[in-house]
Amino acid sequence: MGAGKSTLGPEVAARLGRPFIDLDRELERDLGKTIPDLFQESGEVQFRIQEEGQAIAALHLPEPAVIALGGGAVQTASIRNELRDRAFTVHLEVDAETAWKRSAGTDRPLAQEESEFHALYERRRELYDEVADAHAYDLDDVILVAGGVRVHAGSIELLGSLTPGDAPVALVSESHVAGIHGAAAQVALASRVLSVHEVPPGEEAKAAAVAERLWNELRLDRDGIVVALGGGATTDVAGFVAATYLRGVDWVPVPTTLVGQVDAAIGGKTGIDLAAAKNLVGAFHWPARVVIDPSLLETLPERERREGLAEVVKTGLLAGEPLWELPTSELVRRSAAFKTAICLRDPHDREERAVLNLGHTFAHALEAAAGYEGLTHGSAVALGLLAALRLSGRPTDVVEEVLAPKPVRVDRDHAWAALQRDKKSRDGELRLVLLDEEGPVVESRPAGEVRAALDGLIAE
Ligand SMILES: NC(=O)c1ccc[n+]([C@@H]2O[C@H](COP(=O)([O-])OP(=O)(O)OC[C@H]3O[C@@H](n4cnc5c(N)ncnc54)[C@H](O)[C@@H]3O)[C@@H](O)[C@H]2O)c1
Ligand SMILES: [Zn+2]
Repeated sequence: MGAGKSTLGPEVAARLGRPFIDLDRELERDLGKTIPDLFQESGEVQFRIQEEGQAIAALHLPEPAVIALGGGAVQTASIRNELRDRAFTVHLEVDAETAWKRSAGTDRPLAQEESEFHALYERRRELYDEVADAHAYDLDDVILVAGGVRVHAGSIELLGSLTPGDAPVALVSESHVAGIHGAAAQVALASRVLSVHEVPPGEEAKAAAVAERLWNELRLDRDGIVVALGGGATTDVAGFVAATYLRGVDWVPVPTTLVGQVDAAIGGKTGIDLAAAKNLVGAFHWPARVVIDPSLLETLPERERREGLAEVVKTGLLAGEPLWELPTSELVRRSAAFKTAICLRDPHDREERAVLNLGHTFAHALEAAAGYEGLTHGSAVALGLLAALRLSGRPTDVVEEVLAPKPVRVDRDHAWAALQRDKKSRDGELRLVLLDEEGPVVESRPAGEVRAALDGLIAE
């Protein structure tokens, strides 16, 4: 009571593209009277019976929904059982003082007297802990826990308990990162570590030969778990190996770069590169949990941080909030939540997830024209964001100030040819992610305009 369920619930539902059901309001609508009236006329016992029917019916709806339970619903055993079987239950945390301040002076029947209210809060606390699959303090927290993503400084030390179940673990780390954070991961996983594997740093890890070696080295059963420690390259290949080994075992990425923490480790895309193109072979394989510890970024070189900052600026532009201005751990948490919500809406990249490509059509064209050398992905994205903002008729100052992109020296015709091969083009019209007042839109633009925007990113 007073935790903010009725305010946050519709926001969570909107972010996840799901219907929202507020059980108290539904009950009032069905009975044609308010809950205080129902309490007054028939008493709490009668109210709980009505509530039970309503809650169980909602939990059995065929379409997944975001449901706000009344504060006392967990007192009913059958509701607790249904929650365990059919719901992912998030306890929205609120301290007793705040809850009382919000509830006092309203007509809520159980919030009329302060000492009774506090006693009730204490009594219910244990039941909340019993039913909760996760705890959350705000909107982004709810989204993150719903996606299985945990973001906390120091969470690497809890890796053992954050890795679901108690099955044996194969720890796959990148060789350079293993020397920095590998010991902490091993200590945290303790006796669950069945085997330890290393992959080379950077993009070299995303090779069929590396995947094949891992397949051969693994000794896990079907219930085993692959834990991947490293940047996006490591989590991509380890996730792909997990997706395919024994036709799929669970996996837990522990991203150690900013790119990994705000982007690569979230959303279940895994893969390796072929000579013809990057990410040509892969699988969708949602991680059992993503363990994000922003304090691991303290050892990340500035150059790599800037790579991630480009994705953070992209995310902030999409979200319409200056996420890049936040302190690291909050910037990671908010950006990770944004990507998690979009991926939960569109896990297989068929629709909404396309917006995450803001700036990327141009970036990929420039990277291809540069032969994937001398131009990092982050620098290419920074340039791509400039072009997307210009085509959207929006100011570019944020990108210029935060990312300071420099025009790149590549062959113009080569870049243009690469851009036209973009997988989003339809009947010769190029489809681009642009930004309007409301947020991102996917739009077609005439070739001439797009070419001019691309040329504007290329040095004379
Ligand atoms: N699956 C997805 O949805 C997705 C999304 C975005 C990017 N990606 C992929 O991610 C890859 C890029 O990932 P990346 O930018 O993390 O690069 P990366 O994995 O190549 O790591 C970059 C460098 O950082 C070093 N490093 C990593 N963590 C460190 C730490 N904590 N301290 C010090 N050094 C550290 C590594 O040794 C490496 O040299 C690309 O292959 C890209 O395709 C995948
Ligand atoms: Zn990117």
